[in-house]
Amino acid sequence: MLGVSGSIAAYKAADLASKLAQAGAQVDTILTRAATQFITPLTFQSVTGRRAYTDDDLWGSEAHVLHIGLGHAADLLVVAPATAHTLAKLAQGLGDDLLGVTALAATCPVLVAPAMDAGMYAHPATQANVAALRGRGVTFVGPEAGHLASGLVGPGRLSEPATILGQIRYLLTRGGPLAGRTVVVTAGGTREPVDPVRYLTNRSSGKQGYAVAQAALDAGAEVILISTVDGLPLPAGAQHQPVETAQQMADAVLAAAAAADVLVMAAAVADFRPAQAADHKIKKESGVPTLELAANPDILLAVADQRRALGRPKVVVGFAAETDDLLKNAQSKLERKGLSFIVANDVSAADAGFAVDTNRVVLLGVDGWSETLPLMSKADVAEKVIERVLRVLGEPAHMDADR
Ligand code: C5P
Repeated sequence: MLGVSGSIAAYKAADLASKLAQAGAQVDTILTRAATQFITPLTFQSVTGRRAYTDDDLWGSEAHVLHIGLGHAADLLVVAPATAHTLAKLAQGLGDDLLGVTALAATCPVLVAPAMDAGMYAHPATQANVAALRGRGVTFVGPEAGHLASGLVGPGRLSEPATILGQIRYLLTRGGPLAGRTVVVTAGGTREPVDPVRYLTNRSSGKQGYAVAQAALDAGAEVILISTVDGLPLPAGAQHQPVETAQQMADAVLAAAAAADVLVMAAAVADFRPAQAADHKIKKESGVPTLELAANPDILLAVADQRRALGRPKVVVGFAAETDDLLKNAQSKLERKGLSFIVANDVSAADAGFAVDTNRVVLLGVDGWSETLPLMSKADVAEKVIERVLRVLGEPAHMDADR
């Protein structure tokens, strides 16, 4: 159920409705009277293929049941954009229009995306309404800071439809099979400083790790995403811990893994770092420097030690990016690093591995199973990895921390 109120940002709600419909959601829209000044019900009907309601429907022949029916049928009530007035109405529980009575009848989770002038948002009355709604378990997305129609600059802009969509995805997946489980995912290539402006890194983009984080969220998990990546959108609901070096990643992973059910090490961790990072930028005039390297900790080996002591995480998944002898190398890593299973990919192929959106992998299990997957999107690979995680979690024999 999408409630649209009378902000200039109402036009963005049509994009949101369209994206929701494309993602397979059945979207019923309710426009407030003011919203119809900015956008028509026909716009929403056209992009959702379903009825869009206005206050005229409140007084029609089915009026006495309409709002109850709409409220009960919804899995989620999204109000976007929510004006200061609509926020006040929701906070007070006023039922003087179709959106108000439907919100009162709804028993589902509620997501609100405010949009208004920065001064109106900052007003103590609005802030009190936001606090009251939060106190009742309503989730907020935005408002974002930026240039507003009023000419002011500040928080008040409606969040982008993609951001709202991410929150919707998160709220609708909380009841999944990994509900109540914590999944730690690492992503990206570590950056090992040479001096204050230079570092050594690798070709990992973090795309496969971010896809695994999203798949774990979709299965209902709480996700801690430990990553070196700057440029990828963070999956909504993930708790992000930014790191740069292998040592920082090791510290973050060991701390998070102690309380986690699952660890997926998708990051490309540098095996070596400059032994001594220079304090100042190394100057060309000083001649060609010689870099001495030192070994980084192997995070998965450290996790295996900690896991023997703590019994957690129950499932540990590694990745093997290889250019030669894929299966042989992956098998030996699986055993040496004490993994539940390993995701082996041949990074020498142009359509798989680093940076691209597709991957071709083989999953190898500690007790001898293997699954060869065809070329597929990294999102699909991630789903397969999480499906396997579920299978391993579901079998008590695999929960043995001593493997
Ligand atoms: O031994 P190799 O680096 O090829 O193993 C790859 C797997 O081990 C990946 O899951 C990677 O995240 C992890 N790894 C690690 N610590 C390192 C190097 C790699 O945990 N220092």
